[in-house]
Amino acid sequence: MTLGDILISEAEIAQVIPEIAAEIVEDYGDARLVLVGVMDGAVCFLADLMRALPRSVEMITVRAQSYEGREAGNVVIDLPPRERIEGRHVLIVEDIVDTGATAEMMVEEMAKLGAESVEICALLDKPSRRTREVDVVYAGFDVPDMFVVGYGLDYDGLYRNLRDVRELA
Ligand code: IMP
Repeated sequence: MTLGDILISEAEIAQVIPEIAAEIVEDYGDARLVLVGVMDGAVCFLADLMRALPRSVEMITVRAQSYEGREAGNVVIDLPPRERIEGRHVLIVEDIVDTGATAEMMVEEMAKLGAESVEICALLDKPSRRTREVDVVYAGFDVPDMFVVGYGLDYDGLYRNLRDVRELA
């Protein structure tokens, strides 16, 4: 595997995050909002997005892992306690929505935990790979059907620390 050219630069990421934050503020106003970051991929995006929000929000991280047969939606999520979700407007923060299996399961589980509303925010969206109908309300960039790394996204545990997003080919 070789690391390709920069697909999305650090400057482009830095520009889009305040735009997403402004949309979130406009849509939620003063509502009780909790950002639920899906680890480990969302680590950079979550940290930057929450600091771009001019108001206080709650924040939780959950770990999601996809196993063999991911297309079938074999996603395992380590869920937060009900009392941290119930009655809140939940914004799921993902690095990338690919098949949509993780986002779909997160939406279902947050609803079961009593969320007032649940929406999805992702830095990257790969719509060509979608097998689930999920509505990514806040998305930074669409990416083509290629494997990308950096800014939290990994390949075999590596490249998360890159400051930009690159193709791995
Ligand atoms: P899903 O298929 O939408 O459930 O995506 C599950 C997870 O797979 C994402 O949150 C990412 O962590 C990972 N993933 C999907 N596409 C890529 C990619 O191009 N690079 C790195 N990780 C990816």
